[in-house]
Amino acid sequence: MVNDGTNFDLVVIGGGPGGYGAALYAASAGLEVALVEMGKLGGTCLNVGCIPAKELLETAAVLRTVREAEDFGVNTSAPTLDITVTMARKQRVIDTLVSGVGQLLKGRNVTVFNGTGSLVADRRVQITGGESGDVEIVGRNVVLASGSKPRTIPGFDIDGQVILTSDEVLSIDRVPATAAIIGGGAIGCEFASALADFGTEVTILEALPSILAGCDSDVTKVVQRAFKKRSIAVKTGVMVGGHAPHGNGTVLDLGEGGLLDVEMVVVSVGRRPFPDHLGLEGTAVQLDDRKFVVVDDLCRTAEPGVYAIGDLVNTPQLAHVGFAEAIMVVKHMLGEAPSPIDYGKVPWAIYCHPEVAFAGHNEESAREAGYDVLVSKHRFSGNSRAMIVGSTEGMVKIIAEKNADGTGGQILGVHMAGPWVTEQLGQGYLAVNWEATVDEVAEFIQPHPTLSELFGESVLAMTGRSLHG
Ligand code: NAI
Repeated sequence: MVNDGTNFDLVVIGGGPGGYGAALYAASAGLEVALVEMGKLGGTCLNVGCIPAKELLETAAVLRTVREAEDFGVNTSAPTLDITVTMARKQRVIDTLVSGVGQLLKGRNVTVFNGTGSLVADRRVQITGGESGDVEIVGRNVVLASGSKPRTIPGFDIDGQVILTSDEVLSIDRVPATAAIIGGGAIGCEFASALADFGTEVTILEALPSILAGCDSDVTKVVQRAFKKRSIAVKTGVMVGGHAPHGNGTVLDLGEGGLLDVEMVVVSVGRRPFPDHLGLEGTAVQLDDRKFVVVDDLCRTAEPGVYAIGDLVNTPQLAHVGFAEAIMVVKHMLGEAPSPIDYGKVPWAIYCHPEVAFAGHNEESAREAGYDVLVSKHRFSGNSRAMIVGSTEGMVKIIAEKNADGTGGQILGVHMAGPWVTEQLGQGYLAVNWEATVDEVAEFIQPHPTLSELFGESVLAMTGRSLHG
């Protein structure tokens, strides 16, 4: 190991949103930064996560739009999917974004090392096995951001053909006739939705009583109803026992639920942290029993000057949470006094059809937290723009503290399911995080006709008076 004596203000291990976010933000503050990445820049998000998944979901939306075009008097022949072209487009989007991250890092003079980074004592980082050769660098600060990998289930060996995780399903070269999705979380519901639009007969198998655990139950019901209409079977309370592969797929053992013969199985039962190559010998950095790096509310590990962020720590596994943690730790190392992130208020956006988006308390968690709760629910079926775009399924649900006179006080949560709600959450998110009241937000004018008018109507109704709602 050559110690070339190179010292940096910050060494980041991992080039995903958390890691490259920390590198860019620190460099923009004038710090000398090194980033170590063993694979491609962009991490899970750009290469095998958010970006390719949403790109394929957009292909699914295009297919749906063309299929429904006749309703607008636009006549087309039945659309077909050329998966080779689909995948090539997806890859172009990924490559452009990955290269963009590289350009940004270069433009800010971040030194990028290609190799596996391991942390040893005194914030020394040993880099091995990559294009940068074997070198040791030292950081005044170190950020660990090595991300996560899909979890698997015992007995389900990932072969990329019959048994896949999200990593493999993003690069399929054929559309299966039938597929089982094990796990009805965000990943499971997004893939179920895309595959169903591609023409696959999909069954979601979820161990819990409901899919999308953690979402507001009214929102989950919207998705469940829509999935049913689209012939996506949802089986809850099912633990898959095992499976027996055959020539053209496999037969799943659903216990009391019987057997299910499918061509493809997508295992989406969560993601595990990936500290596997971080070393950490001679440091005080600790892992918990699930291998998450243990951090405090400012993402500090027990080793002075060493932080851990992103999917590597036990906070919501979302790229934008990684960005927020990156900014927080860099501010901390700059001697500023960042506020800890309120993880109960981060925005969530799930891109199945219909989409789901939310921030803050759902009705149940607000009641559990002891609030006297006022709820306002409005459906897209009455919204003019939803009718115009032909997508009237779904609702906006606002949860607020109830005033003594029965009107709404502070807005505690905004939960949505329906057309483009991932793009509509913005103002709901701001209301929740600014701890705004119903009276304050009700004064804002919503442009007409827009889908987001429904948010305005829902808030207005909580003042005790309303227009359309
Ligand atoms: P998840 O933890 O959200 O959902 C996994 C589901 O699998 C759970 O509902 C669990 O009950 C179920 N499950 C576990 N073992 C099972 C078994 N043996 N049989 C049947 N069901 C079983 O994990 P997911 O969906 O894989 O996503 C991983 C992470 O990535 C999550 O934190 C998720 O929120 C995040 N993510 C977020 C996205 C978004 O916000 N759009 C998109 C993709 C991922």
